[in-house]
Amino acid sequence: MASSPFFCPQAGDKVSSWGYSFTWTSDHLSREEIEPLRQQYDISAAMALQRLQAIRIALMEESKLKGTSPPPNDLYVLLRDHRGDDDVLNKFWTEVNTVPSWVDWEQLARGQRFFYRYAIANIVGFALQGFVAENSAAPGVVEVLVRTGGFSTRMLLSRLLETFQWLIQVTHCIASIRPGGEGHIASVRVRLLHASVRQRILQLCQTKPEYFDTQRFGIPVNTLDCVHSISTFCCNPMWLQLPKFGIRPSPEEVRDYVALFRYLGFLLGTPTSYFETVEQGRRTMESLLVHELRTTDTSRTVAFNFVECVTNLPPPFHISKAFIEAGSRWINGDELCDELELSRPGLLAYLSFSGHCVLVMLMAWVQWLFPYVDELLITTFRVLMYTGIVQRKSRTRFEFKHVPQAGKQTGKEAYRIDGPHSIWSMIFGALGMGPFELFLLLIFVISGAFLLKLMVLLLRSSAEIMTSMHNIVV
Ligand code: HEM
Repeated sequence: MASSPFFCPQAGDKVSSWGYSFTWTSDHLSREEIEPLRQQYDISAAMALQRLQAIRIALMEESKLKGTSPPPNDLYVLLRDHRGDDDVLNKFWTEVNTVPSWVDWEQLARGQRFFYRYAIANIVGFALQGFVAENSAAPGVVEVLVRTGGFSTRMLLSRLLETFQWLIQVTHCIASIRPGGEGHIASVRVRLLHASVRQRILQLCQTKPEYFDTQRFGIPVNTLDCVHSISTFCCNPMWLQLPKFGIRPSPEEVRDYVALFRYLGFLLGTPTSYFETVEQGRRTMESLLVHELRTTDTSRTVAFNFVECVTNLPPPFHISKAFIEAGSRWINGDELCDELELSRPGLLAYLSFSGHCVLVMLMAWVQWLFPYVDELLITTFRVLMYTGIVQRKSRTRFEFKHVPQAGKQTGKEAYRIDGPHSIWSMIFGALGMGPFELFLLLIFVISGAFLLKLMVLLLRSSAEIMTSMHNIVV
């Protein structure tokens, strides 16, 4: 079984990991190959961060002496404005602004459209598989996450929205990810944010080595974890998420989306060789499924807080716990969900989740058959998400907000609503399901009735044909 810590498959072995099966080849990544990546990290960003901090301190002192306003907190602005004063900053700036020769902008633009084409399936897949399973069960990643506080139940929604904001910025249009574009700048900010998280945790380790076990989990936000995260973003939808909803992306779609994230990985300081081709991307995902995923107590904390957060979304986004659990079990299988201590929901939640699968599958069919519907949906989702998420008042500039502190770590947290419950919360609480779930249940019932009617019609016409053939013979 792939989740054993010592499982080292040989070429030709059939591997099954949490409901996904494949054959191991000599081209998959062995444990010996990936292990050193745990102690490697993005050195350019780490060095640039140190210079930026020194420049900021110098500017602060200067502003105090002159009585002028303090320098900006924004690391990107400091980098842009002071790159000419420092070799390290200049090198980092040149690195992120030099487009690799393998980038084909038209292909990346197609990759961006993929996200919106299957927007609903992509978002549900990312939440239930990418987050609940892959993220929660990657021990090194969750250890970092629970130390930054952004994964407490109270903060999780804004933290997820911020990650989602980045995803929308980098998929908005091709100008956005070209050097100097909005998504490009956001990615450089996120890269410096990761460097800040790493630096802070390592600083705490200097005085308290037990704060973070770098031997076991590697350097915080290390190269292996970053490769894993990129793989979760671009490979998991293709093989672990959309197929479970009945959608099979075309080979071109897979190629374009993996290429898009190869470039985004480059911007974030992640080695790109693991995503050079679709086959390499798939082997990377499969290798990490075998070597990296196992649940720990911290995984259960992150999964618990996620369910608490999502089931307490403000109206009209109420989602029941049973629906999340049914969806998680549908996509990740019972073995993992039992390990994460998710409950077993009733039949109604599964029927409602089947409605989601029917909906996204039907939409995909209609989009394949009618390209103008495809275009319309891509544009609509693009505009809606950009307006709702990127242009919201509380949009982030990816500052370092949840600074790790010695002795502080996120634990399991039940959600407490301050103040009185809204009338809608009470209604949907009593019903045991939210408005979207009711809608999905309705879709399931209508499609079920339609299929039943189709079967009855088919049976009736075949009976009529048989009778007329019988009459002819007689
Ligand atoms: C390489 C792929 C990755 C992508 C695309 C990515 C994306 C992001 C984004 C968009 C943010 C900003 C969200 C915010 O401001 O709250 C963020 C923050 C963060 N990321 Fe990543 N991430 C990646 C890898 C990782 C890995 C491997 C780790 C940990 C092992 C990690 C840990 C964090 C932490 C702790 C923060 C939040 C810092 C804070 O709370 O202020 N990320 N990441």
